Amino acid sequence: MRNHSFLALVLALAATVAGAAPPPNLVRPPGTHAEDTCTACHMALDDARLRTPAKLTDNDIHHAQGVTCAGCHGGDPTSEDAAVAMNTAKGFKGKFSHQAIPEMCGSCHSDASFMLRYAPNVPTDQLAQYRTSKHGQALAKGDTNVAICSSCHGAHGVLAVNDARSTVYPTRIVDTCGRCHGDAVLMGHYGIKGNEIAEYKQSAHYAALVTKNDLSAPTCKSCHGAHGATPPGVSSVSNICGTCHVTQRERFDLSPHKDAFAALSQPACESCHSNHAIVHPQDSWIGVGKDQTCGSCHSAGDSGATAATAILAALSGASKGLGGTQQRVDRVQLAGMLMDEAEVKLEDAHQAFIMAQVEIHTVNPSRVEEKTKAVLASTGAAERLAASAETEIRYRRTGLFVSLVVIALAMVTLIFKIRGMER
Ligand code: HEC
Ligand code: HEC
Ligand code: HEC
Ligand code: HEC
Ligand code: HEC
Ligand code: HEC
Ligand code: HEC
Ligand code: HEC
Ligand code: HEC
Repeated sequence: MRNHSFLALVLALAATVAGAAPPPNLVRPPGTHAEDTCTACHMALDDARLRTPAKLTDNDIHHAQGVTCAGCHGGDPTSEDAAVAMNTAKGFKGKFSHQAIPEMCGSCHSDASFMLRYAPNVPTDQLAQYRTSKHGQALAKGDTNVAICSSCHGAHGVLAVNDARSTVYPTRIVDTCGRCHGDAVLMGHYGIKGNEIAEYKQSAHYAALVTKNDLSAPTCKSCHGAHGATPPGVSSVSNICGTCHVTQRERFDLSPHKDAFAALSQPACESCHSNHAIVHPQDSWIGVGKDQTCGSCHSAGDSGATAATAILAALSGASKGLGGTQQRVDRVQLAGMLMDEAEVKLEDAHQAFIMAQVEIHTVNPSRVEEKTKAVLASTGAAERLAASAETEIRYRRTGLFVSLVVIALAMVTLIFKIRGMER
């Protein structure tokens, strides 16, 4: 106990020096699990509303780090007397207004010197960022429908953000935002469509996240930010996409679209890919026909349309070549020939084809053709290897036929010889 009060004193001093907000007696030294009277008494209560927060301490990062119930609610966590423990004179708060919660969470999480003692690498800008977000701005105006800290993290049983069970873990964050953003009626009040969740769930991004467990795929927070949640401005969309799709962005920056889109306040990547329902793109998107991407801004005869036709022709030629050669090599392989070298050429062709698709972002036909020519050069080499393998197969087949005839003749001769000897 003496030890404890000594530590409490040190914490108190540290807090005073740093001007830290949380009263030090409400927080135990980092890493201590010691029982507090709040948890002990609440654990035994019948009312589920009162008991549940105590039950959730098993999985609570705050509890595990020595932040007791009183860390958030105030009161005296050392008294077994309910009236003393939950005394408002000791700072006890049984209920929080919506507006009070971010400030309360932030009283610790914005205090760099306090947080340093627990987790030196964890940022302390959540409240500051939150205030700049659409959520924080609306809350400041008294709107209680918006997300506050506990809407996303919970208040009890809060888990480390990199715990796969956490409500903010990449695979779960979509449904956490979706509790409100999937509610079209609620969102309707704000002029927001409310279809963002449904659209995102059709995307290649969501598919990579849930089917390949690819945690590098973007979730809501990658594009909007978590604490500073706000739609990216027109000028920053390509920056956001470009942090992951670096080469596409570089190629886009080389295109006439870069300046033209900026002048029209037209978002870069989103204009062709949309924002939430980003699907796997196809070569057939390129063109000005119905449902073709370029057609939303260009029309037959203009220089955009001409470029589109040339790009599509180059891609189709390369794609046909690639497909045909792959089939031919597969057939030869099935016939038992080793085609490792041709496979290497085909792989080169594949890589060049992918580069050609990336190059379309320049909308410059000659840049695309440069890559499709490389595709055809590699498929040409593979074709030649396949052709010589086919000759080899024919040669072997003829050889086999000839030797079979020779063997058969020899056997017949032998049989006649044996019969002759028998006679
Ligand atoms: C000896 C038992 C006991 C102790 C110790 C105790 N509580 Fe409670 N707590 C209760 C009971 C019973 C209620 C419900 C009746 C009430 O509101 O007074 C309650 C209610 C609450 C509520 C809900 C208030 C509301 O208005 O809905 C909170 C929050 C709470 N306690 C937190 C704490 C904290 C924090 C501590 C420790 C500093 C603590 N309790 C210590 C028994 C206890
Ligand atoms: C990290 C801060 C934090 C900690 C730690 C914490 N609470 Fe809470 N508690 C809250 C907030 C915020 C609310 C308001 C309800 C909400 O938004 O979910 C709340 C609400 C409650 C309520 C009212 C629940 C209801 O549904 O009306 C009770 C009871 C309660 N807490 C008890 C406890 C007990 C007991 C502990 C310790 C085991 C504890 N709390 C620890 C932040 C915390
Ligand atoms: C709209 C949902 C949302 C709200 C509101 C929110 N958070 Fe977060 N929070 C997240 C997400 C998502 C992450 C994970 C960030 C990541 O993976 O990079 C996170 C991470 C954190 C972390 C870990 C450190 C970090 O910054 O990555 C802390 C601490 C935290 N939040 C505290 C808070 C506090 C305090 C508030 C209120 C001021 C708050 N959060 C409000 C969604 C939210
Ligand atoms: C009394 C101080 C205090 C208060 C108040 C407080 N926290 Fe914490 N919180 C901590 C400490 C200490 C940690 C553990 C350090 C860490 O791992 O980041 C922590 C950890 C977290 C984490 C996990 C961060 C991570 O590293 O993954 C989240 C999320 C979080 N708190 C959210 C909240 C929310 C939401 C509230 C308000 C409802 C809140 N905290 C109130 C002190 C506090
Ligand atoms: C508790 C409900 C709730 C949760 C959870 C929530 N939001 Fe919101 N969000 C709202 C409401 C309500 C608004 C409208 C605020 C306004 O426009 O005044 C909003 C606004 C926004 C906006 C601004 C939209 C615009 O066009 O102005 C973005 C971006 C956003 N939220 C992203 C997120 C993300 C990302 C998450 C999850 C990490 C999330 N929200 C979680 C309720 C929520
Ligand atoms: C790949 C990036 C990306 C991802 C992932 C993403 N968004 Fe968006 N979001 C955007 C862009 C870009 C905009 C539009 C900005 C503009 O056009 O000004 C937007 C707009 C919004 C808006 C405003 C819509 C309106 O009608 O005003 C909301 C709300 C929103 N997103 C929520 C979400 C939620 C929730 C998720 C997770 C399911 C999510 N977003 C995932 C990029 C993304
Ligand atoms: C003018 C329309 C347009 C713009 C603007 C655009 N793209 Fe594309 N993008 C396409 C088309 C068309 C494809 C399909 C290419 C194919 O498969 O032949 C594509 C393909 C992609 C692919 C799939 C891989 C690949 O390269 O084939 C990614 C990733 C991509 N784009 C990202 C971006 C990013 C990031 C931006 C913004 C910097 C962007 N795109 C801007 C039209 C566009
Ligand atoms: C946090 C990183 C990240 C961000 C930000 C991001 N993406 Fe992606 N994107 C990925 C990953 C990972 C994949 C899945 C790749 C796979 O499955 O092969 C992907 C897939 C794609 C695809 C499909 C590629 C294909 O071949 O099927 C397109 C198109 C795309 N993203 C465009 C965009 C656009 C446009 C934006 C901005 C609005 C954006 N991405 C933002 C990481 C990101
Ligand atoms: C969101 C509208 C939009 C989309 C979609 C779009 N463009 Fe453009 N494009 C423009 C604008 C605006 C300009 C600059 C003004 C102009 O020259 O027409 C431009 C210019 C061009 C130019 C340069 C024209 C010149 O005269 O130098 C080419 C080439 C081009 N686009 C090709 C394409 C191709 C190919 C696609 C489809 C993959 C496409 N664009 C999709 C809006 C668009």
